[in-house]
Amino acid sequence: MPTLLRKKIFVLFTVFLFLFLQTTCKNKNPSPVTAEKPDILEELVASMTLAEKIGQMTQAERQDITDGDIRKYALGSILSGGGSTPAYNTPGSWVAMINGFVKESLETRLGIPVIYGLDAVHGNSNAANATIFPHNVGLGAIAAGNIEKGAAASYTAGLITAKEMLACGVRWTFAPVLGIAEDVRWGRTYESYSENADIVSVMGVNAIKGLQDGGAAACMKHFLGEGQTVNGRNQGNALLDREGIERILPPYRAAINAGALSLMPSFSSVNGIKMHQNKELLTDLLKGEMGFKGFIISDWDAISQLTGGNYKAKIARAVNAGVDMVMATNGRNMWMDFIKNLTALVEEGIVPVSRIDDAVLRILRFKQSIGLLDNPLTNNAGQIGTTENRSIARKIVTESLVLLRNEKNVIAKLPSYKRILVTGQGANDIGMQCGGWTITWQGNHGRTTAGTTILEGIREAAKDASVTYAQDGKTNGIFDVVIAVIGEDPYAETQGDRTDNINLHMFDIDMLKEVYKYNCPVIVIMLSGRPMTIGDEYLNWDAFIAAWLPGTEGGGIADMLFTDLNFTGRTPYTWRKTIKGEILYPFGYGLTK
Ligand code: GLC
Repeated sequence: MPTLLRKKIFVLFTVFLFLFLQTTCKNKNPSPVTAEKPDILEELVASMTLAEKIGQMTQAERQDITDGDIRKYALGSILSGGGSTPAYNTPGSWVAMINGFVKESLETRLGIPVIYGLDAVHGNSNAANATIFPHNVGLGAIAAGNIEKGAAASYTAGLITAKEMLACGVRWTFAPVLGIAEDVRWGRTYESYSENADIVSVMGVNAIKGLQDGGAAACMKHFLGEGQTVNGRNQGNALLDREGIERILPPYRAAINAGALSLMPSFSSVNGIKMHQNKELLTDLLKGEMGFKGFIISDWDAISQLTGGNYKAKIARAVNAGVDMVMATNGRNMWMDFIKNLTALVEEGIVPVSRIDDAVLRILRFKQSIGLLDNPLTNNAGQIGTTENRSIARKIVTESLVLLRNEKNVIAKLPSYKRILVTGQGANDIGMQCGGWTITWQGNHGRTTAGTTILEGIREAAKDASVTYAQDGKTNGIFDVVIAVIGEDPYAETQGDRTDNINLHMFDIDMLKEVYKYNCPVIVIMLSGRPMTIGDEYLNWDAFIAAWLPGTEGGGIADMLFTDLNFTGRTPYTWRKTIKGEILYPFGYGLTK
């Protein structure tokens, strides 16, 4: 029998077998991610052409593809970068967009569905009017006070995030961050839970369990040493000996045991070697010693960032180091060049076919274990930002607040005050409450999405009092108390890096000078991704609360101010007066009332 005919019969048999198994062993509920690797997938890989295999290893940004690309190149994944949303940012539009991509992938020869991913890092935070939870720094504050309470909050936030992702047809999030931030000058400190490895392990594992019990898939990131770079520089270099590496591995070991089956390397370097080409850490340690059975997805165009050689040479180093799927973003040519170059590298024997097969099998195993092969399409859009989800998030906000100062128990007197002045841009700013990775990559000031501001919460809680708002603190009147909200502008990643002190904005300093003139108690609330360096300014404050980046449910702050609930949050980071200076509040500090 002619070889070609024999080949065609084998391929047809494999496809039939795959489709038969897909229909007969239909799994109604996507199973939580497991490391199960059915033989059928090995046979499927064996039946794939090189082009189909490399297609699976390619992830393109939704704006960098045109109709037909997914089908023609058998692309494995599409993503939304931060803030990359369908024209109408509604669950229905998200579902229609993603189903469109999936349907196109089902029309390929083997019909392997494309997987859609994005950064749902504190709620489904690209989606308008989704429930936005406190960023990880706030969740870490819960854990620093009570690890069980923190675990529960992390699990719940993950579970609801998953449900609001699935309501939009999104199955995979690039979260949680398992980095251990050890220098608060790092712009991604708020994406980390804490400087304490145990807290990061427990919180990361529970985030993963919540996401996966909610039917979504997690992606541990950014492996390894992102929080240990010199001077806290984002994407910088971490000097780590074996002991130093062992010290920051526990969160990843725990996450692997919790069933996480995707991982993103860090842009940063360890001992001068970029993580995305670090074979010793990605393959020998992670996949070998630690037994990671999932797949490695690169960070945003991180291959281009590698040092030395052209794009083709960088691809070879990254894929041979253990990267399985490449986030080939920054334009359509980028992912097309990735495909072209990797194909050439395999044909030239520089990247072994066995490495390609291993990468593709890992990707297919991931898709199979999250139920994507069995149920690739989303039937209909669901609800996001529901009253129930928001009230749960609001309770988590109350648990995340850290009371750092409360002279003469002024907080307890708040309900008795009749003339309240609220000041500061952050008092009436959903965007500032949420920080980066909210609706857009960097986040923005203003009413960027549905939610409750701190001021709205106070007005709601202090019904018998007159509540005046003056953003700059300037107003006429006599007041019993001032609630002044200060903090950081929204930012993400390197935009948040600081080379030295994280000082208060001049606007806030001027506003505080105004409010001191009223000669009444001043309660300061700080919205920030990390401890800001306040020197001795706090001595002018009668009370001081760290609210971190609480998300859309700012009402949770008023709940703590106007009820006699105990403050259970504690600072997840050492708080210094100045960078590297005197410790003001040690890790784990906080008052109960
Ligand atoms: C970013 C981040 C990473 C994120 C990815 C996709 O640069 O480093 O955390 O998941 O790109 O948005």
